[in-house]
Amino acid sequence: MNWPAEAIWEAVSPLLPGFTVEVLPELDSTNSELMRRARAAQLEPVLLVAQRQTAGRGRLGRQWHSAPGDALMFSFGLPLAPADWSGLSLAVGVAVAEALHPAICLKWPNDLWLGGRKMGGILIETALTGAPADAGGALDLRLGGGGDKRRFCVIGIGLNLAQPASAGLSTPPAWLGELWPGVDAGRALQKVAVPLVQALQAFERDGFAPFRARFNARDALAGRPVKLSDGTEGLARGAGETGALLVHTAAGVTAVTSAEVSVRPA
Ligand code: BTN
Repeated sequence: MNWPAEAIWEAVSPLLPGFTVEVLPELDSTNSELMRRARAAQLEPVLLVAQRQTAGRGRLGRQWHSAPGDALMFSFGLPLAPADWSGLSLAVGVAVAEALHPAICLKWPNDLWLGGRKMGGILIETALTGAPADAGGALDLRLGGGGDKRRFCVIGIGLNLAQPASAGLSTPPAWLGELWPGVDAGRALQKVAVPLVQALQAFERDGFAPFRARFNARDALAGRPVKLSDGTEGLARGAGETGALLVHTAAGVTAVTSAEVSVRPA
């Protein structure tokens, strides 16, 4: 497989001085590797791609499995200092979906969907950038949190390209090849890299505001019945100003910030 690492480097470097691209044949997890590096005070902006992951991770402690060649798996690591971290995963989803195809939807807070099926996911983690002793304080950011502003941020993205094995999954997954026949990981990455960096820089400057309408235009849950982890049920009404999922329940509108939300089966 030919990776367009140099072309990506040339396109991204003017936006991010010191930026490097690395493509490795195998890693446990691109997120884990960049978090280890952050703890070792390696804080330069980097795009790290793995052709195979032996311990890929998803949100909420889940695993992310992909057969080599069937998925694009990468993490973008960079120092970020937004005034408010709320809505970052939504902004990343907007950038990736817009870069790839108009038909891609976003399922709050971290998933890329196609026709009601999951095509990819986003896992964001951060580490403090202060003294090495502080840098172990990684947290799963989900929608926000974290008192101090400047952190090394690791944005991990996994995207199915070819039809994945779906054994054991209640809903079969989707893959980008359905929309873009013959797509390979390098070409998908090349489409996404610059828009992703631009989105991160816009988010750092202006927060979630520039992304709200764009997220809501692709919101896979809009108007659909959802069930929150505490049992509350209602109709999803899009993302609010800070990226919280608005849910219209019998008791009024609830803003969900980090709880797991599952779509109630029709
Ligand atoms: C999810 O769906 O819960 C998020 C999945 C994120 C998977 C990607 S693959 C590249 C990066 N490295 C990981 O270990 N996870 C992310």
